[in-house]
Amino acid sequence: MAYGLLSGKKGIISGALDSDSIAWKIAERAVAEGAEIVLTNAPIALRMGAINELAEKTNSIVIPADATSEEDLSNLIDQSTERFGGKIDFMLHSIGMSLNVRKKRDYTDIKYDWMQKTFDISAISFHKLMQTAYQKDAINEWGSVVALTYIAAQRTFPDYSEMAESKALLESFARSFGYHWAKKKHVRVNTISQSPTLTTAGKGVKGFQEFFDYSDKMSPLGNASSDACADYCISLFSDLTKYVTMQNLFHDGGFSNMGMAPEVLGL
Ligand SMILES: NC(=O)c1ccc[n+]([C@@H]2O[C@H](COP(=O)([O-])OP(=O)(O)OC[C@H]3O[C@@H](n4cnc5c(N)ncnc54)[C@H](O)[C@@H]3O)[C@@H](O)[C@H]2O)c1
Repeated sequence: MAYGLLSGKKGIISGALDSDSIAWKIAERAVAEGAEIVLTNAPIALRMGAINELAEKTNSIVIPADATSEEDLSNLIDQSTERFGGKIDFMLHSIGMSLNVRKKRDYTDIKYDWMQKTFDISAISFHKLMQTAYQKDAINEWGSVVALTYIAAQRTFPDYSEMAESKALLESFARSFGYHWAKKKHVRVNTISQSPTLTTAGKGVKGFQEFFDYSDKMSPLGNASSDACADYCISLFSDLTKYVTMQNLFHDGGFSNMGMAPEVLGL
């Protein structure tokens, strides 16, 4: 069911790789709610993924941008405002990748240049995206910026490795940048802390399926799906949440406030 919540709004959606991607669902939902969007992803992902299919479905264009490249991000913002014929109302950061996890390096045997690259891709890119748009004054008053995160920023999930620190940094950027943008343009910045979700990035974490099942049992409402995440994200892009900013918002079926669940113990 669509409510026209983003009617007339224009936004940039990063991170849609394939139809499992959380960003894919958010893109579809944003358009269903009346938004006009631009899709972006790393040039390499454009070759591997199915993003052109999504572009066709959502009547949008794809602007390649490596989120660690200030030049690419500058081009992304310029081309997007040109396409929209004006400023942007919302942006989604849905980007994450750990080199040490991908290359199966143990957390106690981290390769530091990979760690720095991980932080750049998964967290500093968020600051870069925001700073680029801020300096170009490309976001409309009361615009909304959302990034996706995970509760490993607050609690220890051993196999999440250096992504835990990436997410802690990402969430901190949302608070700090949120202050400056609120003061300047009433632009709000939040992170959504999503349940484990079966996507390419998710499945890269060791033992993901077992962990997914555990999390499902620990969450009184069950794991939140990517479709439900899209719904929540749309509410944050909409005008119904204008005074929500600098928050890390748990979208996890109650997982974050649980201590013990009898279901996990088979009671
Ligand atoms: N899947 C989960 O369990 C889960 C849970 C909570 C939060 N998240 C977060 O959600 C976000 C989206 O992940 P997803 O689960 O949909 O997986 P995904 O693999 O579909 O999306 C990750 C995206 O990051 C993009 N990316 C990687 N390096 C990039 C770069 N240098 N420049 C631009 N884009 C780049 C990839 O191409 C891909 O589209 C990530 O931030 C992830 O950490 C995922």
